[in-house]
Amino acid sequence: MTENLRETSGDGQGTTDEVAFVRRLRGEFQRMEMEYGFAVDEILTKVSILRREFLHLHRYNPIEHVGSRVKSPESILRKAERLGIEPTPDRIREHMHDVAGVRITCSFIADTYRVLEALTSQTDVRTLKVKDYIAQPKPNGYKSLHAIIEIPVFLSTGPVPIPLEIQVRTIAMDFWASLEHKIYYKYDGKVPSELVESLTESAHLAEMLDMRMEELHSEVSGMEGGRLDDGMRDMDERLFARLWNVYRSARPSGDGPIA
Ligand code: GTP
Ligand code: MG
Repeated sequence: MTENLRETSGDGQGTTDEVAFVRRLRGEFQRMEMEYGFAVDEILTKVSILRREFLHLHRYNPIEHVGSRVKSPESILRKAERLGIEPTPDRIREHMHDVAGVRITCSFIADTYRVLEALTSQTDVRTLKVKDYIAQPKPNGYKSLHAIIEIPVFLSTGPVPIPLEIQVRTIAMDFWASLEHKIYYKYDGKVPSELVESLTESAHLAEMLDMRMEELHSEVSGMEGGRLDDGMRDMDERLFARLWNVYRSARPSGDGPIA
């Protein structure tokens, strides 16, 4: 791309055109990194709100861990080359949807669907693609819920739609995926067949663990949930009755609804 810019004579530091080009590219990439970072911040805030609200409503935390990353400029350039696209912000936004990624690790399978649904149903979130590798695992056993979404980031110049990749999985799925990832890289993609078999078997074990944990959780929350809710209801009712009495006695007249 820089080849046709070498018109003026160089001084060992690159031609004026090249320097200007590289500066502009660097500026564009810095801006892009910042915009994707803002989009990640927005999603992290949304996830934090959902987590706290869920905790308030159901008295347990469905989200164990949240991780995020924005691809480095080197990694973006490498992928752009692989995809055969021009490395400009517009082309990247259009064709590379995993520049920014957020990974949410949940306690149970049901929570992964609940959390993704709660995120993608928000009015400022546009869902571009959903891949359910939990219902249809990859042949190697990989399981996760993937979604490509787009959210607007409001800059001084106006809104910019930013795509992000969201991955939602359970702790067991995450444990398996990180190990598989390490093994895959260690063997440069050519994993010995006995290890592949072993990984597939572990994926099956992880799946059984997820199912058993979910069963246990429903049994326990079925027992405790009732007790806890009844207890809370009693406490809430007593507290509100007292507040109501205080309110009534403080009011000059009547006991109508609070205006
Ligand atoms: P990319 O172009 O690599 O992003 O793949 P894709 O567009 O086909 O998307 P896909 O949904 O298959 O995978 C996206 C991401 O999911 C990857 O970058 C990984 O983070 C994760 N992933 C997908 N498959 C596997 C797998 O077999 N093992 C592990 N460990 N991670 C996986
Ligand atoms: Mg990817």
